[in-house]
Amino acid sequence: MKSTLAFMTLLATALAQSSCTAEPAPSATATAVPNPYTPGYFGVISARSASPIHLLSLTARGGKFYLGGPGPSSYCPVEVVGDACPPGNYTVLAGGDKTLAMGVVVPGGQQAYVAPDGSLSYTQAHSAYIPTDSIIDQFSVDAPEDGQAFGYLHFETGFVACPAGEGQGYQVFGQVSNAIFGPDCLGFSALTVATDEPGAWQY
Ligand SMILES: *[C@@H]1O[C@H](CO)[C@@H](O)[C@H](O)[C@H]1NC(C)=O
Repeated sequence: MKSTLAFMTLLATALAQSSCTAEPAPSATATAVPNPYTPGYFGVISARSASPIHLLSLTARGGKFYLGGPGPSSYCPVEVVGDACPPGNYTVLAGGDKTLAMGVVVPGGQQAYVAPDGSLSYTQAHSAYIPTDSIIDQFSVDAPEDGQAFGYLHFETGFVACPAGEGQGYQVFGQVSNAIFGPDCLGFSALTVATDEPGAWQY
């Protein structure tokens, strides 16, 4: 839980320092001023009160997403990028206007999608490969309402998390109709906290 709190503190600080970036994906008509943060970087915290998945960071590991368990898998070519490597120890997303991406620096980026088995997934760096029949365009983000620190990330049919095995926390799925989710699986709200930087070179 310590890392979740550290993450939330970090993001809350980022939010306070740059409140103009708090609203993801402003509409095209909103302003003509170039905004270096138009990708709308944000972290996600799960919310399902009185459950084992309340207030856990959404974590990218090995192409899938988890609540709880180890921190993210990430990589940065330190010998090339040096001090400019992002921290890589928490998970940042970007976009959320239909499509969703990882908040990364690697050229080409990494796209998030819901695989045919429902698993929330992301492409490998340097690859655009997404399995046939994956869902790539059913994401949306609600900006925080007035006075709220959190917005919401939505997948059209909802997110659900299922126990992922010893020490791995819960794996996150989109609630696709052709997948069966057992009684151990829990639906949750995905709270977003805006941040102004990518979280990793690549996940
Ligand atoms: C990530 O690493 C940085 C620097 O090592 C540290 O300050 C920060 O607290 C860490 N964040 C998390 C969420 O562990």
